[in-house]
Amino acid sequence: MRIDLLTLFPEIVESPFSHSMIKRAIEKEYVELFIHNIRDYSTDKHRSVDDYAFGGAAGMVMMIQPIEDLILKLKSERDYDEIIYMTPDAKVFDQKEANNLSMLQNIIILCGHYKGVDQRIRDHYITKEISIGDYVLTGGELAAAVVIDSVVRLIPGVLSDETSALTDSFQDGLLSPPVYTRPANHNGWVVPEILLSGNEKKINEWRENMSMEITRKVRPELLEE
Ligand code: 6GU
Repeated sequence: MRIDLLTLFPEIVESPFSHSMIKRAIEKEYVELFIHNIRDYSTDKHRSVDDYAFGGAAGMVMMIQPIEDLILKLKSERDYDEIIYMTPDAKVFDQKEANNLSMLQNIIILCGHYKGVDQRIRDHYITKEISIGDYVLTGGELAAAVVIDSVVRLIPGVLSDETSALTDSFQDGLLSPPVYTRPANHNGWVVPEILLSGNEKKINEWRENMSMEITRKVRPELLEE
């Protein structure tokens, strides 16, 4: 998978990919990540990337020219499966969408900032829009990092068997059961006895029951879908 990330603030998105699983996935070439600074494509003498909104609304709007030049350059080099725009006014990202994106070959992710991008970029180049939740961030960079992290860990080979994505919360539509490690007794705080029993069937039943119970308590709406 190849991901081209388009941003005005490359530093914000670099750090999450420089550690742990995602760093390893890049090193092992399960995923290629190219971070492009939109400002590098601005052609005017001030290297402008934004301008005032027509109609007098508050806040600056990301202008067409540098984004269009960058998108056209990338599209001339290869075909893209999706050109994604990160914005709070979009459908909310979920595990199903992460699964779908993880099967793609080449994607562009455009991060919005200020009041967002000129609508004509969305109308003519963007093929999918993603929000990560009903709250507003200063820009799409952290949201893009969330999406990329959740997608890259689903690429076969990125996670080991022990950390398999198949047992994640949400992969079966339920929240995960609690987990414990040694010691079995910490100053009287004991691990549920069933987990020490060695009875695999009973242990799996316990985990399924706990999943249901926790989901019912914390996210009952997940059981209705
Ligand atoms: Cl993708 N961008 C911004 N700026 N805020 C958000 C978001 C995206 N998703 C939720 N809030």
